[in-house]
Amino acid sequence: MPFTIAIDGPAASGKGTIARALSLTFGFHHLDTGLLYRATGAKGGDPVAAARGLTPEDLARGDLRSAEAGQAASRVAAIPEVRAALVVFQREFARREPGAVLDGRDIGTVICPGAEVKLFVTASDIVRAGRRAAELGADPAEMLIQLRERDARDASREAAPMRPAEDALLLDTSEMTIEAAVASAVAAVRVGL
Ligand code: C5P
Repeated sequence: MPFTIAIDGPAASGKGTIARALSLTFGFHHLDTGLLYRATGAKGGDPVAAARGLTPEDLARGDLRSAEAGQAASRVAAIPEVRAALVVFQREFARREPGAVLDGRDIGTVICPGAEVKLFVTASDIVRAGRRAAELGADPAEMLIQLRERDARDASREAAPMRPAEDALLLDTSEMTIEAAVASAVAAVRVGL
């Protein structure tokens, strides 16, 4: 039986870094599900058709990490038909042997409710804005406004809103180094293994 790790949380909480580290530590496959929504938003045209027709080339575009692509992703991610179009791919990925780590907003709640380990990674919005600004070379105050807008949209939408699963372990990385955050995530998975 494959082992599934679900990691959810807001932008720049550290969930992507933790997901990558877990996949390397345990030799599991990793899917950054935000990329699916970023690629859908970046494709333009009808978002539902874009989600249904996503290709590996769409996911490999170089401009998907920008703040604009994040905002576009968050807008298309509120459309139920867009989310529905991406479910099967994510669930099949989650069943890959020997295991898989998926990170996003609704992995523990909707995509993989039966995941063996669920983490909800958070950090204060000020800390997250600072991290994202450093990463993108952007203005922290502008990043804070954008992050707040995106978090509010992701948490308040009707379709698969961002929220911790009831059985998720909460990890607040505001005052943690990345090494410490990764170490506690690894420890949580070892308990579940
Ligand atoms: O994680 P990332 O910042 O790349 O996600 C971009 C956007 O995609 C999020 O703001 C959210 O609206 C959407 N998303 C989602 N469900 C996921 C992953 C991402 O709705 N599982």
